Amino acid sequence: MYFTIKALHILSDFLLIGGMLINAFVIGMVPPAIRVGVIGALRKYDRIVTTAGLAGAWIFGLWLIFGYVGFSNGWLHAKLLFVVLLSALHGMQQGWMRRMQADPKLDPPAFVRAGMPIILVSLVLIVALAVIKPF
Ligand code: HEM
Repeated sequence: MYFTIKALHILSDFLLIGGMLINAFVIGMVPPAIRVGVIGALRKYDRIVTTAGLAGAWIFGLWLIFGYVGFSNGWLHAKLLFVVLLSALHGMQQGWMRRMQADPKLDPPAFVRAGMPIILVSLVLIVALAVIKPF
């Protein structure tokens, strides 16, 4: 059961990170003229797949905490800091995609525009903390 929950946790993480990278690409790197046609479809994908990934990461992650590994590990505390940051960024991506669908010329704040490096650096740190468990 433990390995099944962990497998579902990691599967959810793939869907979450994959979806957030697509959002970051469209928000930060696609020109407004092209963006308008893409955002509608992307918001649908985000609502169904990426949001399910976020929910699965939290549900199966908390299940692993309360069912198996407990909450006392330093690596988990540090990891959750980056996971909360990613969760907040995803919420801001959703908000700004909604606004940008109405007005494609809108430019989101720097934190949202810099989504790609924030997600990639967080991913490296989260996986290192979760697998190596350095402290
Ligand atoms: C959303 C909240 C999250 C919580 C509460 C959480 C919690 C946990 C817990 C308790 C484990 C089990 C550790 C073990 O059994 O050794 C785990 C494993 C793991 N988590 Fe998360 N996690 C979350 C999000 C994420 C995210 C967003 C990623 C990647 C982007 C991630 C990547 C991993 C990996 C790769 C493992 C496997 C570690 C191993 O087998 O050694 N987690 N997570």
